[in-house]
Amino acid sequence: MIQHARVVTLEDLADATTVVIPVIFDDEGALIAEAIPANVAGHDIARTMDAPWCSARGLSATAGSSLARAFFHGPTLLFVSLGSTYNQVDNFRMAGAAAVQRGEGDVVVFLLPTDAIEEPDQAAQAVVEGALLASYDFKSTDEDRSFDVVALGVPLPSVADHDDVAQGVGRAVVVANAVNWAKRLIDTPPNELSPKELAKRFAQHLGEDDDVQVEIWTESKIRDERLGGLLGVGAGSAEPTRLVYALYQPPGARAHVALVGKGITFDSGGLSIKSGEGMMAMKTDMSGAAIVMATLSIIAKLALPVRVTAIAPLSENLSGDRAMRPGDVLTTRNGMSIEVLNTDAEGRLVLADALALAVEANPDAIIDVATLTGAQTVALGDEVGALFASTDELAHLLERASERSGEMLWRLPLVAAYEKHIESDIADMKNLGKSGKAGAISAALILQRFTGGRPWAHLDIAGPGRADATRGYVTKGATAFGARTLVEFLTQVAVVDADSSRDVDADDGSWADDEGLVDR
Ligand code: BES
Ligand code: MN
Ligand code: ZN
Repeated sequence: MIQHARVVTLEDLADATTVVIPVIFDDEGALIAEAIPANVAGHDIARTMDAPWCSARGLSATAGSSLARAFFHGPTLLFVSLGSTYNQVDNFRMAGAAAVQRGEGDVVVFLLPTDAIEEPDQAAQAVVEGALLASYDFKSTDEDRSFDVVALGVPLPSVADHDDVAQGVGRAVVVANAVNWAKRLIDTPPNELSPKELAKRFAQHLGEDDDVQVEIWTESKIRDERLGGLLGVGAGSAEPTRLVYALYQPPGARAHVALVGKGITFDSGGLSIKSGEGMMAMKTDMSGAAIVMATLSIIAKLALPVRVTAIAPLSENLSGDRAMRPGDVLTTRNGMSIEVLNTDAEGRLVLADALALAVEANPDAIIDVATLTGAQTVALGDEVGALFASTDELAHLLERASERSGEMLWRLPLVAAYEKHIESDIADMKNLGKSGKAGAISAALILQRFTGGRPWAHLDIAGPGRADATRGYVTKGATAFGARTLVEFLTQVAVVDADSSRDVDADDGSWADDEGLVDR
């Protein structure tokens, strides 16, 4: 797995084992930017290549397609397609992925023609993100390979372009390493990663970041704080339940976003037990938790001026002799009761408590991420996440963020008429909607009841949270889908907030004291 990337110069090509040359396609064939040297490592580089000649060798207008030329001496030249434009950011991720997947040797260097590109910082970030994300491998963490970028211009890149590239590369390293960290946690077998162990790993990782405080709530604290939904779900497991409460509070930040992530370390379904097939991938049911913690860590490492609270309820849904039963009624943090009619609809129970806690932190917006329903996958498949939002503004911000991240989202409605599907005869609600109908929506409607009327969005990533095969920079297994979108979203929030001139009284930080946060 590659963990480092740098900006290097043309002189450094002497050490390269692969030099990557991006191409775009028009009707005639492949075009190579003016800024790419006419001679690379002793080989003449033409400005155009015939389309049939290219496609016969695998290089086409499909972004990420490639053609390798190896020689007796010197580096392999790898031509990689960016599609038909230099201005599709996701195509740069595909190209970065192709570079590490099909590049040879330990030193892969990507030539980036900045004057052909509108946003060189975005392109550089995307290339490196694609490369580092694609190099993720659960089984091997060796760091022998390096991935470097050369910023090129005609005759030289401007200082501004060079700095943009350096910044983009730096951001990509932070983002991709945190996303790969989340993927590794999600892929870790559930016997190695109990709620207790996961809480410990979160606290260890986040503890390294400036301006971050992390608190682990044990079962007695969770009971004292009356998180009845979370306790109910964890009751059937010998592994104790945990809740991780993390706070990134940079000086001067005004906007405050609370993130909540579902953290079921294994979902057997509980007494409403799943089939053997149905539980094979259920170690990934803590994806949301890993994603929100990775996001907070990225925002802290980038030192963005936005306050982030991340809350992860962690438990294991098993069917031990203390397990909650279909028919049980649980009382949640905000006093609302839920009749549990299916113990496999456990995500909404743990999220109910965590969302209620998030409301108490008084954020400007709350966003939760959860592998919540099989119905989400039925509706949108495994490459598109479901977005629910209580306000159009929040929905649009997340849609824009998703366009930038390449993580596709599609908004589904919070259908008020379906509230009747979650009514209970004996409690405030039941944890099941109408059988076979709009299951992703009824789950979202339950969550909404715990958001205190605040701007709130919910990402149901049951499908895209896991990939059954590698495609481009999305590697097989855990994807941590949503983390990069949240980073884009929070980046926008921080920028807009810093630009706005509204006056807000200086925050004395007393909020943290009110909540009784302590470092452990
Ligand atoms: N963790 C599952 C949802 C899931 C399914 C995620 C497949 C990823 C892949 C969730 O806890 C669950 O079991 N949901 C049930 C809800 C139902 C009982 C109302 C489902 O979708 O079947
Ligand atoms: Mn379940
Ligand atoms: Zn689940």
